[in-house]
Amino acid sequence: MKTSLAVLALAGVAASAITTGAAVAADVVGNPKAAPAKIEMCIGCHGIPHYKTGFPEVYQVPMIGGQSAKYIESALKAYRKGERKHPSMVGIAKSLSDQDIADVAAYYAQQTPATTKR
Ligand code: HEC
Repeated sequence: MKTSLAVLALAGVAASAITTGAAVAADVVGNPKAAPAKIEMCIGCHGIPHYKTGFPEVYQVPMIGGQSAKYIESALKAYRKGERKHPSMVGIAKSLSDQDIADVAAYYAQQTPATTKR
């Protein structure tokens, strides 16, 4: 009984070590406070924090506020690599560093309808 508890505890430690390791391996931690200067160009189209689309008649602009940071990050990296093809987003994503993407993703992920209505 005691042994199996110890094994479980060790497994827990190992699992959290693996999770932490993954975060460290990515080596970039998003800082939402660094984002406002970086999202100035996003606001025109994505309309966050006020959820207004810049050109509704031209663009179907998806809402990104409140999306998970991982989703936003992987979408931006896909545009940067050309795996996603939208020309404006590819151009924009190519101008972003990994740190920019992490910051922007962390910022948008923090938003909720309550905080964006202001
Ligand atoms: C010129 C207008 C424009 C600007 C500026 C712009 N976007 Fe976009 N964005 C779009 C459009 C249009 C799409 C949908 C493209 C598609 O269908 O793939 C999109 C898609 C996205 C997506 C994927 C959303 C999803 O649900 O799949 C993310 C994430 C994103 N943009 C983030 C950003 C960020 C961050 C910035 C600023 C650094 C930014 N965008 C600036 C127009 C824009």
